[in-house]
Amino acid sequence: MHMHRPLNCEQDAIFDETGLYLRCSMHGFIFDPKTGECQSPVCFGQRLQSLRLEEIDGTLYFAEKHLTLID
Ligand code: FES
Repeated sequence: MHMHRPLNCEQDAIFDETGLYLRCSMHGFIFDPKTGECQSPVCFGQRLQSLRLEEIDGTLYFAEKHLTLID
């Protein structure tokens, strides 16, 4: 499963070639950007933690005051 690394840690992109899925450049696993669910067979059914954001005047802010980090 995805480790604590930026999705673009190896390449300067966070989406796959289709632009539909997030792709981690470390191991190439792909994730549904809306649900965070892994679409790669090796981790199918597991998911990234989603965070709700709000855009205000072109700047993104975390919408939740309390975040829980999951290992
Ligand atoms: S570190 Fe992201 S899939 Fe392995």
